[in-house]
Amino acid sequence: MPLVTLKEVLSFAEEKKTAIPAFNIDNMEITQSIMKVCEEENYPVILAIGQAAIRDGKMPLLAACARVLAKRSPIPVVIHLDHGQNLDQVRQALDCGFTSVMIDGSRLPFEENVAVSREALKLARTKGATVEAELGCILGVEDDISHDADKPFLVRTEDVKAFNEAVRVDALAVGIGNAHGIYKGLPNLDFERLSEVNDISDVPLVLHGGSGIPADMIQKAISLGIRKINVATEIRLSYIKGLQETVKSGDFYTMSDAGKAAVAELARAKIRLFKNGNA
Ligand code: 13P
Repeated sequence: MPLVTLKEVLSFAEEKKTAIPAFNIDNMEITQSIMKVCEEENYPVILAIGQAAIRDGKMPLLAACARVLAKRSPIPVVIHLDHGQNLDQVRQALDCGFTSVMIDGSRLPFEENVAVSREALKLARTKGATVEAELGCILGVEDDISHDADKPFLVRTEDVKAFNEAVRVDALAVGIGNAHGIYKGLPNLDFERLSEVNDISDVPLVLHGGSGIPADMIQKAISLGIRKINVATEIRLSYIKGLQETVKSGDFYTMSDAGKAAVAELARAKIRLFKNGNA
């Protein structure tokens, strides 16, 4: 089916009280594997292309791969820019046929975050695409994106209110103690803050740093309005594990198939969790 935007998949998630996975795709095999599982699970998917893949020159290549797979697929698929760094990158992604972009202005002062998100929205709308913005900080380091540890990271409810009044994006990533990469110990998520934000925001909320968050916390986050959950590290690690387990075979397709199978197992578990018993 034709590609869709965040609007379609997040309103489905809102109706069902579920969350849609945004899986980072870093190569063709991972993309193939994720698409196959989502089709088997009959569940929408957001294929996210992030900064490491972009630095590796793969923005147009992965977008083309995703487009081909989506076109012949019966499930709704979004091609999404993860942590867009500036408006040039947003333009490039839109030119490559992305149907959704994130503009990550969370490192900027509030007014500048509003301004850059507004510009991203203008650019996206010329192509019928959607926009995700970020408030508060996602901790940890991923693809070289990190925040100062001493910077306040929890999203503030008053900022969400002011942000939504100033610019109407399609999804809002919120910092509630979540972090990119694997958590050391249990994640310390501030559900009270998430609940307060959810009470005053009608913009669908996004949880980054989905790798390693226990199932009960994911369920709680979904019950408090999280409608998109990003998973990158665990996808990459499962692919690597598949390759490592079969490296002695010395056979390209044995290893490739094992990488895909490991990704499929992980993605299936996430999808079933994110369905939250409702889809
Ligand atoms: P993880 O790598 O922790 O899964 O986070 C993914 C993410 O939030 C991408 O934006």
